[in-house]
Amino acid sequence: MIDSIRNAILLNKEILVRVDLNVPFNTNNKISDASRIIAIKPTINLILKNGGRPILLSHFGRPKKPNDDFYSLEKILPTLSNILKTEILFCNSLDHASIKTFIRNAPKKTAILLENTRFFDGEESNSPTLSKILSKFGDLYCNDAFSASHRTHASTVGIPNRLPSFSGLLMEKEVSTLTQALLKPTKPLTAIVGGSKVSTKIKLLENLIQKVDHIIIGGGMANTFLYAQSKEIGKSLCEKDFFNLSNEILNRAKKFNCQIHLPLDAMCAPELQENQQVTIHDIGSCPPEKMILDLGPKTVANIHKILTNTKTLIWNGPLGAFEIPPFNTATEKVAKIVADLTKTNQLSSIAGGGDTVAALNNALVADRFSYVLNAGGAFLEWMEGNKLPGLLALENNNQLNKKF
Ligand code: 3PG
Repeated sequence: MIDSIRNAILLNKEILVRVDLNVPFNTNNKISDASRIIAIKPTINLILKNGGRPILLSHFGRPKKPNDDFYSLEKILPTLSNILKTEILFCNSLDHASIKTFIRNAPKKTAILLENTRFFDGEESNSPTLSKILSKFGDLYCNDAFSASHRTHASTVGIPNRLPSFSGLLMEKEVSTLTQALLKPTKPLTAIVGGSKVSTKIKLLENLIQKVDHIIIGGGMANTFLYAQSKEIGKSLCEKDFFNLSNEILNRAKKFNCQIHLPLDAMCAPELQENQQVTIHDIGSCPPEKMILDLGPKTVANIHKILTNTKTLIWNGPLGAFEIPPFNTATEKVAKIVADLTKTNQLSSIAGGGDTVAALNNALVADRFSYVLNAGGAFLEWMEGNKLPGLLALENNNQLNKKF
């Protein structure tokens, strides 16, 4: 059991809140998608409303050295204050004594943002020394970053081993949505799994075949399955080392009564570039000089049929090379079908993963899904059946909470 921040006594407490401010920036150095910031608002508001002070901890990017301005959280500060509609003081120091003084001197109950956790020596190695120092800055700890909870870092695992710890409201929502969707779903349950490489999705598929009724495979990874079935795929991307495993998955799925649906036809072109001469071919007839870059209309119609008989859908990975039109066609068409079925309450739809969310945003339907997770690696690991270390740390923390 994980304790919720709703059940914590927050008055006059300093609460270390692990959030995920790892937001994307565009080429003009502006935040291109602030949904991760918007999503933490309920937790921060709850803490402030109940008289506590949130001290925000987050990573940003993957800096190789501390104090690299490019990765400073200072550049997120204006958007963060603006969206949270509260003043936030930024502490740019990595020196423990200075941080302590900064917090002590800050006006009571004003939120504080500490510098990128990955600038601190010992964050990524989950050093007990760092966890001990950081945990002294707060009375309580709250994890509102499901999307970072697959990392065994000081800010996700070390601190909650030392302080009474709680899940934030976003974390609570994401865990209950995923649990409901994969472990207690209204059936039939379908998974759409796309993306370019089957090698990155083996564990995921092995877990899914035991739990879901249908798996629809798209994206470049479908080519490996097709080629393993002796289908002609021209010069498409394909991972030859994974033929046997692909066939094993197809065979094992039958034992679990899970139907795997491979493409029926495909959109093909000579290169993955814009302005290519695009043709549609049934699977098995891709010309040798072309590559499969998206699903074809027969496959989309088949997916529509499967989804019409589905009650719960989990989607991870685009169905084609969606960054380059027209190879976004199938992903966008299926996204619209899912949005329509969700709107008429025929389907509960959950999607996650960076590329998937980008594709749904491009199709302008992300807000018409039941739930879209801003988590990439954490979502994948959860769907693989792994216990996320950040969640385990919260679960194991009950004893500390009781003492508190
Ligand atoms: C993400 O963007 O998926 C999370 O912020 C985790 O980032 P990381 O993969 O750099 O740990």
